Amino acid sequence: MTLGLAENRQLSEADVLAAPKIMTPLPGPKAKAIMDRDDKVISPSYTRGYPLVMARGQGAVVQDVDGNTFIDACAGIAVCATGHNHPRVTAAIQAQAGQFLHMSGTDFYYDGLPTLAERLQSTMPVYTNPQGVDCQDYKVFFGNSGAEAIDGAMKLARYHTGRQNIVSFYRSFHGRTYGAMSLTASKATHKKRVGPLLPGVFHAQYPFHYQEPMGKNSCDTAQACLQWFEQNIFGRLFPADELAAIVVEPIQGEGGYIVPEDCWLLGLQYLCKKHGAVLVADEVQSGMGRTGKIWASSHVAGFAPDIMTSAKGLASGLPIGAIIAKAHVMNWVPGVHATTFGGNPVACAAAIATLDCLEGRDGEANLCDNATAMGARLMAGLRAMQQRVPHIGDIRGRGLMVGVELVLDPIAKTKAKALRDAVVDAAFYHGLMILGCGENSIRFSPPLVITEAQIDKTLTIFEQTLTEQIAQHG
Ligand SMILES: Cc1ncc(COP(=O)(O)O)c(C=O)c1O
Repeated sequence: MTLGLAENRQLSEADVLAAPKIMTPLPGPKAKAIMDRDDKVISPSYTRGYPLVMARGQGAVVQDVDGNTFIDACAGIAVCATGHNHPRVTAAIQAQAGQFLHMSGTDFYYDGLPTLAERLQSTMPVYTNPQGVDCQDYKVFFGNSGAEAIDGAMKLARYHTGRQNIVSFYRSFHGRTYGAMSLTASKATHKKRVGPLLPGVFHAQYPFHYQEPMGKNSCDTAQACLQWFEQNIFGRLFPADELAAIVVEPIQGEGGYIVPEDCWLLGLQYLCKKHGAVLVADEVQSGMGRTGKIWASSHVAGFAPDIMTSAKGLASGLPIGAIIAKAHVMNWVPGVHATTFGGNPVACAAAIATLDCLEGRDGEANLCDNATAMGARLMAGLRAMQQRVPHIGDIRGRGLMVGVELVLDPIAKTKAKALRDAVVDAAFYHGLMILGCGENSIRFSPPLVITEAQIDKTLTIFEQTLTEQIAQHG
C-alpha cells in the first residue's frame, strides 16, 4: 500500500549542475503510471501540455519521478519566486508548522498577519492621503489565491465607492471565480457554458502596439486607448460618475506578456482620480520581484494604485493571496469580508521569508537584483537570436517576466500559433520547461534564483528547439 509520501531525497549539487539530463523516453515508466491514474480521477478541465511528473526541485532545476532533470523556466506559472526548496523558506515553513498550523485570522490574532502586512506596506508606493499628507498607510486583507484577491478587490471597490461598474481589459486574465472570470477577457473557452457572469463588468482596449497599433508609435497607441476608453466607456456605456473601479494588470500576463507605456497607466490613474473611482493593479503574476522590483507598478514613477492584488510568488508556492489597499480605501466594516484559511500562519511565514530573499536581508542574495541581471541577460540573448531567427517577431518584458512572440513573417506579423505550441512541447523533450501565453507567444518566468549558466542553457535549448520546429512547421 502506498502512503502517498514522496521519497525524501534532495537533488545533489552535481544533479543541478548537470541539468538538464534526459535519461528515459518521456514520459518515463513511473511518470506514465502516475499520469494513467491521474487521468481516471482528476478533473478533465485541467490543461496539461507536456508530461512532467515532478518529484523534487532545487533552485531552477526540477527532477521528474524517473530521474530526468529539466531547467524550469516557468516556476509553476510564475509562482516559485525563490526557486524550489529554498533553505530560508523551507526552514520558515518547518519552524511555523512545528508551532501551529491554523487559527483563523479573521477571528483570532497571531503575529504572522501584522508582520507580513507591515512588510508588504513597506514595499508600497508613497501617496498623498485625503488629508494632503504624503504617507505609506496601507491595510491588507489576506486570502488564499489570486482569484480570491481579485474578487475581494471588486467587493472593496464597490463598497468604498458605493458604485457598481468595473472596467477591465481585453486579453486580461484575473482568475476563475465568477468575479475574476467576469473581468477576464483572454480566451472564450474560459466562459464556455458557465454564464451568466457578474453584471456591471465592461472591457476596454489594452495598448498592444506590436499587433494592434492605433498610431505611429507605442505612445500614440497608448493615447488612442485612453481616448477610446473615454469615448466608448463613458460616452456609450455608462456615465463617468458611475465607475467604481478600473482593474488593470501593469504587465499583461496570460494575455501575452505585454508591457504598456507608463503614460497609459498614469492616464488610467488620472481617470479614476478625476471621476472618484479606484484603480486596482492586479500584480498577481507581475509582482513579488518578478520584474526586478517587488511590484511592476513601481517601475512607473508617480503610479500608486488604490488597491493592489498579490498571490502566486507571495509565499514562494504556498497558497496565499493579498488585497493591499490605501488605508482610507479599505474602509469596510466587520463582517463584510472574511475567510477561514486566508493568511494561514505557515503561508505567512513562507511569505515573510520570501520577502527576506527578494530584499536581500540578513546576508541573502537580493533576488530582485538577480531578476534584473538575469532578465537583462535573457533579453540580450533573445535579441541576438532574433537576428538569426526571423520567426521571433517581438521580445518584451521586464526582469524575469519575458515574452517572445512567434510570427510566420516578421513584416506581416502573421501569428505562428501552431509553431508556438510545437516549440513549447518540443523544448520539454530537450529538458527545458516553458509555457505559452497570448495567442502565439512564449513566456519565460523562471524562479528568480536562476543562474547565468542556467540562462545560457535556456537560450541554447530554446534556439535549438525553435530552429528544429521551424524546419518542420515552416
Ligand atoms: C494577473 C493574474 N491575476 C489573477 C490570477 C488568478 O490567480 P489564481 O490562479 O491564484 O486564482 C492569475 C493567474 O494566472 C493572474 O495571472
